[in-house]
Amino acid sequence: MPSLPRSLLVVGSGGREHTLVRALLASPARPRVLCAPGNAGIAQDATCFPVAADDIAGLVALAQRERVEFVVVGPEVPLSLGLVDQLEKVGIPAYGPKADGARLEASKIFTKQLLLKYHIPTAPAGIFSEVDPALAYLRQRGAPIVIKADGLAAGKGVVVAQTLVEAETAVRDMLAGGKFGAAGKQILIEDCLVGDETSLLVVVSGRDYVILPTSQDHKRIGDGDTGPNTGGMGTYSPAEVVTPDLLTRIDREIVRPSVDGIAAEGIEFRGTLFIGIMLTPDGPSVLEYNTRFGDPETQVVLPRLNTDLLALLWAAARGELRGVTLDVKPDAAMCVVVAARGYPDAYPKGDVIRFPATLPPVVTVYHAGTAKNAAGEVVTAGGRVLGVTALGPTLRLAADRAYAACEQIGCASKYFRRDIGARQLLRR
Ligand code: AMP
Ligand code: GLY
Repeated sequence: MPSLPRSLLVVGSGGREHTLVRALLASPARPRVLCAPGNAGIAQDATCFPVAADDIAGLVALAQRERVEFVVVGPEVPLSLGLVDQLEKVGIPAYGPKADGARLEASKIFTKQLLLKYHIPTAPAGIFSEVDPALAYLRQRGAPIVIKADGLAAGKGVVVAQTLVEAETAVRDMLAGGKFGAAGKQILIEDCLVGDETSLLVVVSGRDYVILPTSQDHKRIGDGDTGPNTGGMGTYSPAEVVTPDLLTRIDREIVRPSVDGIAAEGIEFRGTLFIGIMLTPDGPSVLEYNTRFGDPETQVVLPRLNTDLLALLWAAARGELRGVTLDVKPDAAMCVVVAARGYPDAYPKGDVIRFPATLPPVVTVYHAGTAKNAAGEVVTAGGRVLGVTALGPTLRLAADRAYAACEQIGCASKYFRRDIGARQLLRR
């Protein structure tokens, strides 16, 4: 075993970070794992510190004070604020891109230009900062059409408009109405693609990379993919729509040219490149890059790895990824997100959560929006509250196990989708 860091800090507070903490703790290197700021579930596994994920100076000071040897960054905001750049300055290695790489998520226009420059399949688009030319372009392209705010908008900056009226409203809201503030001062207007969506997580280190097991998210709040978009209501892995042949094609047409294009732009990318892909009848097409692990994709992808996650991320951060391969379990995984009823709009907080006394070892309840109240009880503290992940020899069994656990969780505001994985389960 290569010499691995013994003291880690995970940055973030969601289900993704709880999954990272668990997977890193499972490393044969037996590291000490700290988390900032964490949540009530993470606090049961790791020591948590109340430093916010966007407090860059506070996180650097914490890492120094606790003699952390390796930092794993969960969310996009600290990446785009330059956390990894600042840690490098004080000699602490980290997994996650520096601010230049995080722009691939923080600016959709930057990404679109890179995709076009390197001939990576993506929807044709126009870039606008003024209302009138944007409206003229809309009328020329027709509906349905997609309007995207350039900057980070917590997953809400994309409007898939079915009619021109809807599209015009979105354009005016962003460019004239100040919706999304600076993030919406420039917009992309993009042709609407149809097909199955898939999320590909790629561990990248310069020009080397490893593709993690495939997965599929469910973004809408309601069963049957209805209602508003959310951060993600459930995932499963593997995504069988991505057949081995299709994965080879995606690698050739999308992953390899993306990694090479990013490197050719002078960006030293060491972290997760999350590629959102639409599987259109004409072939796979890139919807977006994120520069971090997906949430809740991580909750199904990492539990399927036999590979030591710490060794993998450490190799990527040090530029030593060449030749690394993955050992993946044959089992399927499903994660059902338990949310607070009302999410993604207003929802209650502070509801007590009752957990089943025992769960099968193949079921893990990852915490996302949880906290402890004055009485020491675990309560809801966010829109997405828990991610209930189960493994099984088939997706059907994984689903049955995950849903059985969801039923046993007690919480007044509990809401979850009943149809995670249904498309794949029904396709058989
Ligand atoms: P993004 O943040 O760019 O992934 O957009 C969020 C969601 O909007 C995606 O997951 C898709 O469901 C949808 N979307 C984005 N771009 C397009 C497009 N060009 N055509 C159809 N749907 C899209
Ligand atoms: N689940 C989608 C995301 O992490 O952006």
